[in-house]
Amino acid sequence: MIHERLPKIWYGGDYNPEQWDEATMEEDIRMFKLAEIDVATVNVFSWARIQPSEEEYDFSGLDAIVDRLHRDGITICLATSTGAHPAWMAKRYPDVTRVDYEGRKRKFGGRHNSCPSSPAYLKYSALIADKLAERYKDHPALVAWHISNEYGGYCYCDNCAEAFRVWLQKRYGTIEQLNKAWYTSFWGHTFYDWDEIVPPNALSEEWAGNRTNFQSISLDYRRFQSDALLDCYLIEHAAIRRHSPDVQITTNLMGTYPELDYFKWAKHMDVVSWDNYPSIDTPVSYTAMTHALMRGLKSGQPFMLMEQTPSQQNWQAYNALKRPGVMRLWSYQAVAHGADTVMFFQLRRSIGACEKYHGAVIEHVGHEHTRVFRECAELGRELTQLSDKLLDSRLESRAAIVFDWENRWAVELSSGPSVALKYVNEVHKYYDALFEARIQTDMISVEESLDRYDLVIAPVMYMIKPGFAEKIEAFVERGGTFITTFFSGIVGETDIVTTGGYPGKLRKLLGIWAEEIDALLPGQSNQLIIKGEHGLLKGEYDCSILCDLIHSEGAEVMAEYGSDFYKGMPVVTRNKFGKGEAWYVASSPDKAFLQAMIGQICAEKGIEPLLGSAPSGVEATRRSKDGKTYTFVLNHNAEPAEIELPSAPQLDLLTGETVSGAYTLAAKGVLILEQ
Ligand code: GLA
Ligand code: ZN
Repeated sequence: MIHERLPKIWYGGDYNPEQWDEATMEEDIRMFKLAEIDVATVNVFSWARIQPSEEEYDFSGLDAIVDRLHRDGITICLATSTGAHPAWMAKRYPDVTRVDYEGRKRKFGGRHNSCPSSPAYLKYSALIADKLAERYKDHPALVAWHISNEYGGYCYCDNCAEAFRVWLQKRYGTIEQLNKAWYTSFWGHTFYDWDEIVPPNALSEEWAGNRTNFQSISLDYRRFQSDALLDCYLIEHAAIRRHSPDVQITTNLMGTYPELDYFKWAKHMDVVSWDNYPSIDTPVSYTAMTHALMRGLKSGQPFMLMEQTPSQQNWQAYNALKRPGVMRLWSYQAVAHGADTVMFFQLRRSIGACEKYHGAVIEHVGHEHTRVFRECAELGRELTQLSDKLLDSRLESRAAIVFDWENRWAVELSSGPSVALKYVNEVHKYYDALFEARIQTDMISVEESLDRYDLVIAPVMYMIKPGFAEKIEAFVERGGTFITTFFSGIVGETDIVTTGGYPGKLRKLLGIWAEEIDALLPGQSNQLIIKGEHGLLKGEYDCSILCDLIHSEGAEVMAEYGSDFYKGMPVVTRNKFGKGEAWYVASSPDKAFLQAMIGQICAEKGIEPLLGSAPSGVEATRRSKDGKTYTFVLNHNAEPAEIELPSAPQLDLLTGETVSGAYTLAAKGVLILEQ
């Protein structure tokens, strides 16, 4: 659906010509053509320009931009501009600005500063979306709608408090139910009336961002704010849909951004789009995982890479340049994981305010004779050559990792056992082990069907939602392998402990009981001792963060703790269940252990790596469509890599050459092999 009007990998990005004059824009367009740029995201932050006052709308500037780009064949991803409200609005309607975590009423300034419960913001954002859709719905350049920008941040104002109470009444029905769900008998916090409930910020139950006295309240506030922002998106969405039934609608997400439940959001997006800003030292497997997560939001549907920088960011502490070849490599990494667009923030650099030192296709010097432009133009040519080959092709994975935002909130709001426990880090450890083994892996929601998977990993599945345990049991029963870890199966949806022994509803499946949980100090570790039974290679590995003290209730003990008073107790277990098996990893193991364990499990299940021998840092993924497969091989190393390709010759789409067998892949090099 997404590529009907431009059937190739879209290439372009955020473009803000309202910041400069027409002559400069003419130059931009000349250079866009040199770089084969064919899509521009416009109007992202132009609300004040298109609605200069409450009564006035003026689209003449935007008309000129859209028409001028169209004249040279550049298509438009049209943003609704509601990521930053105009100054007049904040002045006339003070409810528009947010109240922050400390309880301070914000004034006009910044962006993403609009309260999601503000009647004025809701009214005027819906209106501007409506007017834009009405005006541009039939514009031949239009290829996508881009609602607002990077939704995020929470508000704690009185309007939000009121809306929170309404949200709670819907969820719990009665105040008695709410008291039960929130465990308010603790510290005598029983509520007798809805209007006694206030947002849990630093004036109430919370401090330091995610420390709280009442996990259940804090958890619900996160759910509520995520829903409230989603409602902002939805009212714009509805306004656009009324006029523009066929053009896809998206909003740009931020990967593993903590504050919004993106699985819930994605249900209302025609296509997921996201902004990828790794640092120079972000592990490439972390970026890979994030792409997989963004793909998983809509069950594997291709997504848009909406933003990345061609060279450097401005908002990090140290904004390293992307080294030669890295922009191309990371662009293909996105495509390798399911992106059908390659887009930048931004096409030309601003000359004022905080993003003037953010990288752009066109630098301040204003011409095309720069390293960055040359690299962008080369990539533009390649993407034109690839044409529609890869569009809408899918990744078929047999392994999946479960990711859940609500579980993440609950884990990180927990008071004890350890502040060192970071949900995303634990998930990444497992993804990284699969990445190193070159096993293609999906990131899925707790709701996703498990039918197509043979291996499902749910690290730190602390919160078990209704139906999840039964679903995993059915998966294992029919032959699947399930892995979960310490601090799993502890609570239900409102963070109330499931009594009768951890891991609660997963206990039968895992065949273990976790009696106690030890938290290790920074730098402290225990050991996983494998005695060489059950096919796991004999060895000793480190583990840290948390150590569950577990007893087998039928599970085989695969590894034991090596020290402390629980030395000799099980740390890794495997329980046969139906035709499958369920593993429990009672601590956070080192990389070497996870690689060994994942390697063994995948070998036993016949889940094959995508590439024969290759050094670490060489990534492989595979997209397929119409009976053809496209294997991406990406060398993230700074040196050439000796790799073993299949002996049957395959066509490299980037060079048109046929390759097979032993092959030297250049530093930062990319292969896309068709078969
Ligand atoms: C985000 C925003 C852009 C821009 C970039 C800079 O992704 O959506 O408007 O600020 O960051 O990296
Ligand atoms: Zn508010």
